[in-house]
Amino acid sequence: MRKIRVRLKDRSYDIIIGRGLLKSLGLFVKKLELGTDAIVVTNARILRLYGNDVKRSFRKSGITVRFEMVPDSEKAKSVGVMAGLLNRISRYDKNKKVFLIALGGGVIGDLTGFVASAYKRGIPYVQVPTTLLAQVDSAIGGKTAIDLSCAKNLAGAIYQPKLVLSDITLLKSLPERELRNGLAEVIKYGMIRDGALFSFIEKNKEKIFRQDPAAMEYIVFRSSTIKRSVVEKDEFDKEDVRAILNYGHTLGHAIEAASAYSGRYTHGDAVAIGMLAAADIALRSGIVRNIPDIIRLRRLVSSCGLPLKASKVRAAAIWTAQLHDKKHTGRKNKFILPMAIGKVGIFECVPDKILKLSIAEMIDKRS
Ligand SMILES: NC(=O)c1ccc[n+]([C@@H]2O[C@H](COP(=O)([O-])OP(=O)(O)OC[C@H]3O[C@@H](n4cnc5c(N)ncnc54)[C@H](O)[C@@H]3O)[C@@H](O)[C@H]2O)c1
Ligand SMILES: [Zn+2]
Repeated sequence: MRKIRVRLKDRSYDIIIGRGLLKSLGLFVKKLELGTDAIVVTNARILRLYGNDVKRSFRKSGITVRFEMVPDSEKAKSVGVMAGLLNRISRYDKNKKVFLIALGGGVIGDLTGFVASAYKRGIPYVQVPTTLLAQVDSAIGGKTAIDLSCAKNLAGAIYQPKLVLSDITLLKSLPERELRNGLAEVIKYGMIRDGALFSFIEKNKEKIFRQDPAAMEYIVFRSSTIKRSVVEKDEFDKEDVRAILNYGHTLGHAIEAASAYSGRYTHGDAVAIGMLAAADIALRSGIVRNIPDIIRLRRLVSSCGLPLKASKVRAAAIWTAQLHDKKHTGRKNKFILPMAIGKVGIFECVPDKILKLSIAEMIDKRS
């Protein structure tokens, strides 16, 4: 078991990473004295897999438990689902001291965190991430949100959990597509901050895909440590520090938007293509210090089964979509570009000519 402390003054909390932790969820929570009545937000698939363990764990600790079900997939991050949850929680919350548990992937984590921030102007919540993406990324740092009709994640809050319990055993039931999705973010951490993590993935791909516990614990631990240190320096995303987590995301999001979130590309697929496109911009701009590093990135992305290029997407649509990136201000664009494995920088005013060439390069011409 490994513990990482996220130091954010009175909002500090632990990330606990290990094997078979779910059975002790009740004990961990009891120690934090969050309340007497847990409301676990989850979906049917996850309830079937892990509901009984959660129930038993809370019963042993003398905490009452109630499950609140939400739809599977991004559909759960909606105003309607959130309103329904708030109403059901308030009807249940009579003579109780309730707190929330987010038991699921990033969708459930984002929704539950936002509900926790809003109900009674804030009640405690705990993240129990069940996907690799949620363990290494979304469960840490307190960004919570739902989607509005105009855009994803448009309504939300920065509201920190009281604990993140990352039980890597829960990832065993994850489809390989979801494992790859999270792995794209792990590669991203290697690229932005940690050459040793990058080399570890290169050397241990097979172990990761068969979910060797020591390998999984290591990648979740290193990734969580990096996310922690970035969040500690820029909790509210105001200092241009948290922005580096967006490496691969400007053009990645543009691919997702340009393919109208059709599901053709997972977020991880899009981020993989976006990381390579940012590397292409960096190469064309003379920012890259070590060209073999970019070759290693391409090789790693490909050998993890992630795509190198996008098919059936128009360059013009990617161009238009990236103009809406939150990092861009006025006429100035802003990109996170790699200099070498383990080092990225924030660059403004990438010339349109270079950007257009790199976007053209993102597209699989055979499609
Ligand atoms: N808050 C943040 O900082 C942040 C960061 C990155 C992404 N996000 C958000 O995270 C969301 C994506 O999260 P995700 O990739 O975890 O997707 P997800 O939550 O939709 O989970 C993916 C699928 O896996 C299933 N699943 C979850 N755990 C499982 C398990 N252990 N075994 C079997 N199946 C399981 C889910 O039911 C779902 O069908 C997006 O909404 C994105 O906006 C938030
Ligand atoms: Zn991401």
